[in-house]
Amino acid sequence: MIPQLSKSSVSMRDPERVEQILTSMREAGSSTLQVISDFDMTLTRFAYNGQRCPTCHNILENSKLISEDCKAKLQKLLDTYYPIEIDSTRSVEEKLPLMVEWWTKAHDLLVQQKISKDHLARVVKESEAMLRDGYQQFFGHLHQMSVPLLIFSAGIGDVLEEVIRQAGVFHPNVKVFSNYMDFDDSGVLRAFKGELIHIYNKREGALINVEHFKELQSRCNVLLLGDSLGDLNMADGVLGLKNILKIGYLNDKVDERRQSYLDTYDIILEKDETMDVPNAILLYITGQ
Ligand code: C5P
Ligand code: MG
Repeated sequence: MIPQLSKSSVSMRDPERVEQILTSMREAGSSTLQVISDFDMTLTRFAYNGQRCPTCHNILENSKLISEDCKAKLQKLLDTYYPIEIDSTRSVEEKLPLMVEWWTKAHDLLVQQKISKDHLARVVKESEAMLRDGYQQFFGHLHQMSVPLLIFSAGIGDVLEEVIRQAGVFHPNVKVFSNYMDFDDSGVLRAFKGELIHIYNKREGALINVEHFKELQSRCNVLLLGDSLGDLNMADGVLGLKNILKIGYLNDKVDERRQSYLDTYDIILEKDETMDVPNAILLYITGQ
């Protein structure tokens, strides 16, 4: 039906069900569609030329704004907690408090660095941040079809926005829910705003944002994109949901995690650094 679904990176637990969902979504048309996506390692690349690409946090952490001593501490946190994040032998219940610990410690360290708002754009420009191949088409098509794109990210909203702004794709149909920095009157980071968003509370985030989903009530079909099992709940606040198609990027620890991704995502993309499959699906659903 969609040639890109035969790519070697694609696996599906139940291809017939995927076909049914796609057919229903296509029949309903683009005016009933909303796209809900994670950011880091979903809209951005996981690796390029064999090197890991940075997350929003890494963009700041690797920058000149952070002292060497602080960089070492942040690196230690990454070395400690990232293996836990992707450990398929531990339950979410076990991982959740550890993830809160990681984010909290990292944010406390960042706040101590007196980061200036004025420097963020330059830091992003000088970073290795990369959106996935085919991102222009993805963002451009959604904009052109007036389909809302909601980005739920446990990264840093200010950095994320700058990445998409600099890539020229922060179109008016894009809405970001993330951890935003709170700057004092002189533009220096003093805290993070509101409730912390980490990878395992996107469900709460989605439910808190129910008011926002009310505006989108006629958009009962959801295309969800994520790379972590925590991303599966991002659409929990959607009212009157009819169809949802969940696409999961499986970037790391592929063999260990394949089964859990197959069990929960409708389509999994293994070590696929492109937006080819989401783009082909969007073209199909929107009748192009
Ligand atoms: O946008 P998304 O929700 O994917 O952002 C979360 C990602 O940020 C996590 O997958 C995690 O590995 C990464 N992270 C990080 N440094 C931190 C906290 C989280 O790189 N201090
Ligand atoms: Mg992610």
